[in-house]
Amino acid sequence: MKLCIDDADIEKIRRIVDVYPIDGVSTNPSILAKTGQNPAEVLKEIRSIIGAEGELFVQAVSLDAKGMVEEGRAIAKALGPTTLVKIPCIPQGYKAMKQLKKEGIRFIGTAIYTPMQAYLAAACGADYVAPYVNRIDNMGFDGVQVTKDIHDILTKNKMDCQLLAASFKNSQQVLDLAKYGIGAATAAPEIIEGFVKNPAVDAAVAQFASDFEALTSPGTTMVDIFQNQ
Ligand code: G3P
Repeated sequence: MKLCIDDADIEKIRRIVDVYPIDGVSTNPSILAKTGQNPAEVLKEIRSIIGAEGELFVQAVSLDAKGMVEEGRAIAKALGPTTLVKIPCIPQGYKAMKQLKKEGIRFIGTAIYTPMQAYLAAACGADYVAPYVNRIDNMGFDGVQVTKDIHDILTKNKMDCQLLAASFKNSQQVLDLAKYGIGAATAAPEIIEGFVKNPAVDAAVAQFASDFEALTSPGTTMVDIFQNQ
């Protein structure tokens, strides 16, 4: 499963990319609005942090197909071929997707709450589809199950489209989908850091350091013990 960061906060992205195996960064207009900064500059900065190979997801804001296509061209031109245009899965969005496909611009169907929304985006040639797991949960349905259903639809119909599951509020939701073998998940920095934030882990690592220090001397590492052999 690929793992992406669902945020546009430059410092948080730097912090996570520095440490963890990250495949890309996803944004949406609300995420960009939270930064309070020039969106073009923020997106270019994110591109420079993740490099040319990292996948960057940037959403079109137009509500009509013509505008979405024009935005798609502008996004791909400014941010490079590993940038995917996020197109909402609404009627005008599907019309835009068909045109973007003809032009060879990569895109992801977003704002997905139902499996058939995802099916239609995949049939239009989307590289990815993004179901909103937690938002579906908040509507009283099962976001993980909806995402599994989409995975099954894509797999069983042999569609060349991956999942980028989005909108997570806890690591259990991500775990449930990782176990199911979905293509990719995008989660907030706090969720990614939560995968390893555990007092038991910290205590175990501290105990190892303390035991080795008692055997040798404070600050001694494996480099030191082999240096004088
Ligand atoms: O990128 C879109 C999706 O991740 C929305 O997440 O947390 O606003 O439900 P959230």
